[in-house]
Amino acid sequence: MNTRVVLGVSGASGAALALDCARLLARMAIAVDLVLTRMGCHTCALELGADATAELKMLAARIHDGADMAATIASGSCPVAGMIVAPCSMRSLAAIASGLDDTLLTRAAGVQLKERRPLVLLAREAPLTLAHLRNMTAVTEMSGIILPPVPAFYLKPDNMQAMTAQIAARAVDLLRLTVAQADAWPG
Ligand SMILES: Cc1cc2nc3c(=O)[nH]c(=O)nc-3n(C[C@H](O)[C@H](O)[C@H](O)COP(=O)(O)O)c2cc1C
Repeated sequence: MNTRVVLGVSGASGAALALDCARLLARMAIAVDLVLTRMGCHTCALELGADATAELKMLAARIHDGADMAATIASGSCPVAGMIVAPCSMRSLAAIASGLDDTLLTRAAGVQLKERRPLVLLAREAPLTLAHLRNMTAVTEMSGIILPPVPAFYLKPDNMQAMTAQIAARAVDLLRLTVAQADAWPG
């Protein structure tokens, strides 16, 4: 059976990060369980457009309705290896930090924490309030990983595609499923 990973897409800016994660996971033959929030659908439409949003969905092995709290990935019994939320809004971050489990995305994230599986949040907002920082601390205390989608300036990326692909590769690497995919500092 293919390794499965949940890819959550919330309504923060940075929908390209979701597409790059999905592209890389597909290249690695890792099956993606895709879940978008209502605002995640909106930002995909705004930032990616119809064709790239269709590509994101095509790359998924399964697409879950973000309001379907009875979906397989809402249960710890679903054999997924971990989850990336790319991008992760401050609303979804807050819900995950407080264990709210109020959408399928935040429920699936909570499931990863309770099952002690890797959870990587590409939390995007700037600047950050104390509430955002406290929520990031709370998730970190529960062993989730906060990966702010900041560029690897030291690699001197040529364009935004190179930046988002590198950030997505770091997110996938943090699941520690295979050998590292991200470009490393050459020294
Ligand atoms: C174009 C656009 C960009 C947004 N960017 C961000 C962002 O970068 N970070 C953030 O926390 N919220 C951002 N928001 C606001 C979220 O979409 C909003 O808080 C929403 O309730 C998040 O819900 P969700 O976590 O269920 O997707 C943005 C909204 C829009 C319309």
